[in-house]
Amino acid sequence: MLEVDALTKEYLSAAGALRVLDGVSLRMRAGERITVMGPSGSGKSTLLSILGALDEPTSGTVRLDGADPFAGGTVGRALFRNRRIGFVFQEHHLLDGCTALDNVLLPALAGGSVPAQIEDRARGLLDRVGLAARQRHMPGELSGGERQRVAVARALLLAPRLILADEPTGQLDSHAAGLVSELLVELAAETGGMLLVVTHSVAIAARVGGIHRLVDGRLMA
Ligand SMILES: Nc1ncnc2c1ncn2[C@@H]1O[C@H](COP(=O)(O)OP(=O)(O)O)[C@@H](O)[C@H]1O
Ligand SMILES: [Mg+2]
Repeated sequence: MLEVDALTKEYLSAAGALRVLDGVSLRMRAGERITVMGPSGSGKSTLLSILGALDEPTSGTVRLDGADPFAGGTVGRALFRNRRIGFVFQEHHLLDGCTALDNVLLPALAGGSVPAQIEDRARGLLDRVGLAARQRHMPGELSGGERQRVAVARALLLAPRLILADEPTGQLDSHAAGLVSELLVELAAETGGMLLVVTHSVAIAARVGGIHRLVDGRLMA
């Protein structure tokens, strides 16, 4: 379960404080899906980076299955992210020098050696996203949609409790976008993870469901 209460975020600059989030509260249960929509600059990426423990809020609380991502300092936060969060970004963020399979295995490498069972899961996920024959391919040898499917497989490797996708299909044509969003929904359901997708696409919002809008720093269903 995800419990977010009275979250605010202010960025300080020479021009003064900019309040981007102004009291965001949200509840998600295991297996639940939410779409967040809103104009460019409304704070969607800011919200995701806080929920994913990449950045701290100015005030307010986040609890994921009762745990506070910000309690353990920098190392604790990194561990929290690695164990509990799966990220998919607009840009795939794959390592160019690593094969598709090694990219999917990245979250497991943080723990040192990779158990055979995790490597099997990585191969299974690549199969699941339609890339069984591309395990040894480099990101540069894949299309944009294929790279994003690798990114989805990587995000799901350790069956995270919370999957955060920030405009995951923003760079894809509608066919590839449909495929990627379908895979996110299916794989999140298979692992029982909560799925939060930021998108501008009405079609993808309809597929993911639970549509919310970020308006004036607040999240409205
Ligand atoms: N690190 C930062 N420092 C200062 N301002 C920022 C920073 N990150 C984002 N912002 C500002 O916060 C607002 C929200 O940004 P963002 O969360 O990226 O919006 P969205 O993802 O909805 O387009 C924007 O006005 C942006 O310029
Ligand atoms: Mg954004």
